[in-house]
Amino acid sequence: MTHAAFPDLRLRRIRRTGWSRAMVRETQISPANLIWPLFVCAGERTEEPVASLPGVSRWSVDLLVERARDAVDAGIPCLALFPYTEADRRSENGAEALNPDNLMCRATAAIKDALGDAIGVLTDVALDPYTSHGQDGLLDDAGYVVNDPTVEVLVGQALNQARAGADIIAPSDMMDGRVGAIRRALEAEGFGNIQIMSYAAKYASAFYGPFRDAVGSRGLLKGDKKTYQMDPANAEEALREVAQDLAEGADSVMVKPGLPYLDIVRLVKEHFAVPVYAYQVSGEYAMIEAAVAAGAGERDALVLETLLAFRRAGASAVLSYHALHAARLLGA
Ligand code: PBG
Repeated sequence: MTHAAFPDLRLRRIRRTGWSRAMVRETQISPANLIWPLFVCAGERTEEPVASLPGVSRWSVDLLVERARDAVDAGIPCLALFPYTEADRRSENGAEALNPDNLMCRATAAIKDALGDAIGVLTDVALDPYTSHGQDGLLDDAGYVVNDPTVEVLVGQALNQARAGADIIAPSDMMDGRVGAIRRALEAEGFGNIQIMSYAAKYASAFYGPFRDAVGSRGLLKGDKKTYQMDPANAEEALREVAQDLAEGADSVMVKPGLPYLDIVRLVKEHFAVPVYAYQVSGEYAMIEAAVAAGAGERDALVLETLLAFRRAGASAVLSYHALHAARLLGA
């Protein structure tokens, strides 16, 4: 490539006017690139604000359906659901995850009944919202999360969600072999068309704190999740995780958290011709809101710039707690 040199080359020429900037813009973002995570709680006509996520609430199923309608109206294609499980429904083995009448199943069925294929419902597979210890799986006597017995429960959880009408099963637990086990079980039960979006490169991150408040596991969690979630120092390992999950039958993969891991989004996109999603997690949302509250930045601009950055890095869509706000800004 030969390039002119200054002053024949003036890169500012194409940036001078709005119409010209629009014409050369390399990356687009629209509401279709947003997935909205929502928290479900028990009760009727109940909204419970989450203190560490200002602007985010848990919704009872009836109000959740209204939020789903808001999402459809704003052009959002998919919701990601997470339950707040009451303490008396939590247990050592997370059995509530298998209850066909649990909050996730009721929420999924209610949204599908009301809206059908106007919007997708993604359900999270992992035991942390249901365990009394806040870990994503079953523990041995030493407190280690045991892989294979956990996978068996996760398969049951995934089937439970599938029967309730989930469109996308999203295992966020980081056990080995769970994608393949879930894929085989879905096929065997006649759910061959349900997608699996695996949280393939999920890091043991300090950015998940407010989420754990939202699902009620923060105070319960002892220790950390470093024996199953990835070390933030590693990038090659993310490629091995993605390769493994795709080989086992994942339709798409996710990188999580988001902004501190944009290099991983780009790396995965360059190595695999599959849809890659990024999760702008709760701590990232809280950071933006804290910056806004401190007068350090303007919300709309911060939100749109960060979401655009995910797209530039190669993400098909972004899970973001700002999704509804952003979709409205972007205009359906
Ligand atoms: C749990 C799960 C977590 C998140 C999504 N699924 C938390 C964790 O791994 O401890 C975090 C999402 C967020 O912080 O917004 N399986």
